[in-house]
Amino acid sequence: MAHEAAALRLQGVNAFYGDSHVLRDVSFTLERGRVLALLGRNGAGKTTTLRSIAGLAPPRRGAIRYRGRSIAGLEPHAISRIGVALVPETRGIFSYLTARENLAIARRMASRWQMEAVLERFPALRERLGSPGRSLSGGEQEMLAIARALMTGPDLLLLDEPSQGLAPLVVNAVMDTIRELKAQHVSMLLVEQNAEMALQLADRVYVVDHGTVVFEGTPERLRADRQVTTTYLGVGG
Ligand SMILES: Nc1ncnc2c1ncn2[C@@H]1O[C@H](COP(=O)(O)OP(=O)(O)OP(=O)(O)O)[C@@H](O)[C@H]1O
Ligand SMILES: [Mg+2]
Repeated sequence: MAHEAAALRLQGVNAFYGDSHVLRDVSFTLERGRVLALLGRNGAGKTTTLRSIAGLAPPRRGAIRYRGRSIAGLEPHAISRIGVALVPETRGIFSYLTARENLAIARRMASRWQMEAVLERFPALRERLGSPGRSLSGGEQEMLAIARALMTGPDLLLLDEPSQGLAPLVVNAVMDTIRELKAQHVSMLLVEQNAEMALQLADRVYVVDHGTVVFEGTPERLRADRQVTTTYLGVGG
């Protein structure tokens, strides 16, 4: 039987900041075209997991495979070029470039998402194209960060707390975008503090705590597991 490699597979990933051991044997699999939610409280290691996949905090031990190919140790730009896009928690908008310039620098000819397509997806950005990044609201910056990632034409999108600090209307736009991308078979790793949003979108959920996976299952199983939701997510279940 021909075996199609998973979109992303982490096996025993250990990552450090200096001497500080942050990720401890993190393993998970994201199947192609699926949404995997990574949940956990502050400091659990969610951002570090995304940074290690994107090449910004390469693992000291363990394997990271993207579509069957080892990417641990590759430079961030090389990982980006083969179809992995990160939308960082801090959004990473260039303050002194206009919104249009922020998009233009990410543009790739091969992407199905060109300027017109992302502006249709996020109409609010159209009026802000000539404005410098620093003058955009938090919601506009988040939309711009996602739009910029889309313009690179990703097969795997890493989203770090896209709903953080956003008005409900913008959260809905972000959720619609994730659904649309899923329909296009883009694989997504969604890090969220907003467990409810993540559980509505995810096919599979992992919970991390102190850099270790403490739960793996379906959204339904997590919802039913009071022990996990109260201990690791700080919600009432
Ligand atoms: N640049 C850094 N240098 C040293 N330690 C760091 C650095 N970034 C994060 N850490 C530490 O690594 C651990 C994991 O942090 P990480 O940012 O991955 O957590 P997180 O789950 O994304 O948290 P949050 O929900 O607050 O975003 C924390 O203990 C944090 O203090
Ligand atoms: Mg984080």
